[in-house]
Amino acid sequence: MKDNVFMDIADGSCNDCLQVVVPKSMKPSNLTYGSSVSVEGELAVGPHERMELRAEAVSVIGKCVVTDGYPFAPRKQYSQEYVRQYLHLRPRTNNFGSLLRLRDLATVAIGDHLRSRGFVGIHVPILTANDCEGAGEVFSIKPADLNLLSSMKKKGYSEDEAYFNAKVYLSVSGQLQLESVARGLSKVFSFGPTFRAENSKSRLHLSEFYMVEAEVAFATDLEELATEAELLLKSVTNHIFNNGDSDLHALGVSEPKWLNQNFGIVTYDEAVKILENNADQLSFAPKYGDGLSKEQELFLIQHNNGIPIFVVDFPKESKPFYVREATHDERKAAAMDLLAPIVGEIIGGSMREDNYEKLKSKLTKFSPNLDWYLELRKYGNVPSGGFGMGFERYLQSVLEIANIKDTIPFPRWPHNCKM
Ligand code: 4AD
Ligand code: MG
Repeated sequence: MKDNVFMDIADGSCNDCLQVVVPKSMKPSNLTYGSSVSVEGELAVGPHERMELRAEAVSVIGKCVVTDGYPFAPRKQYSQEYVRQYLHLRPRTNNFGSLLRLRDLATVAIGDHLRSRGFVGIHVPILTANDCEGAGEVFSIKPADLNLLSSMKKKGYSEDEAYFNAKVYLSVSGQLQLESVARGLSKVFSFGPTFRAENSKSRLHLSEFYMVEAEVAFATDLEELATEAELLLKSVTNHIFNNGDSDLHALGVSEPKWLNQNFGIVTYDEAVKILENNADQLSFAPKYGDGLSKEQELFLIQHNNGIPIFVVDFPKESKPFYVREATHDERKAAAMDLLAPIVGEIIGGSMREDNYEKLKSKLTKFSPNLDWYLELRKYGNVPSGGFGMGFERYLQSVLEIANIKDTIPFPRWPHNCKM
């Protein structure tokens, strides 16, 4: 303006900016868009009843040479794809700041809720000697130090096993360790990073993502687990919508319509029937025995009026070795997937195989190195069950975010792990 320069400053404490009124004579010559600044002055109520800071001293702490490749300009809107190219600068954009604050709100709410339900938080290991899901989607670990490797190889160890005397991977799930702890502490949960080497760059997959996993000792059926999962989703979402006001507003997100409704539940067989009856609306008809495709999952949610829906009792062959069979039908697995809008599968869970002999025969077939897991069934075993929720998929669904890469500060996916 004629006598004053107006600048918006933000410190990341909320989505709003504070307007600063700087008399032209006071404006440092190197002050540009994107600079970090220190301002002293008087806080006052400006026009439109908004707080403003009337500057008495302004200095530039870090200048920003906008003409030297800075990717953002004032008063411009950028697509998420564009902003994602600059992961190191993304946290300073307003909308991503909102996402990060909401992510933190949800993080705290998850721990608070589960503890209020009697769960004890457990730090499960990131390095592990087993592939919990048995799908071979693990990343291997070995020391980078070639001298160390060669000295261990001289002692007769293979390169893969040189450091730990065993092949070691980044964990795809802390479930098996949680099962061990649940047999001491009854109700336990973990909330940490998990890793999957899937060759997928889809809008729903990350190579590193956070998973909330709960394990309940003495659980008797899937319904009990489904109830716990539904409570978790609703309680955390309520907390976000009660406390995330201005950030939710900035992202243009409103409360999901399912917050006060009961989630649906169908068996796998019923789900396949629904899909068969609506085959004309799908690119591919369901094939009995296969898992559900993303299109089929999203259709089932739409069919349930946009309310999340549990699919239970999958064919046994489609689920991992640790899943128990359904009591009413031995061809079925006592396993559940919760499907939610935008993402489809958001939670996977099951009752665990607790029969020593059955587990033993499955383990010899699929998974060596799990003698300790089998042994849990030998000494004072209890039935248990649990589930895992993909935290980024949860945020994606509730905050209506199209691409999972925009829910985590530093996403990793195939060919992308620069920083
Ligand atoms: O269905 P999953 O593979 O289940 C397990 O890992 C069980 N061991 C959990 C348990 O019972 N304790 O994974 C759980 C959830 C999925 O439903 C999905 O939301 C998320 O983790 N997930 C991913 N999220 C982002 N990127 C990926 N590559 C994911 N793979 C799974
Ligand atoms: Mg799954």
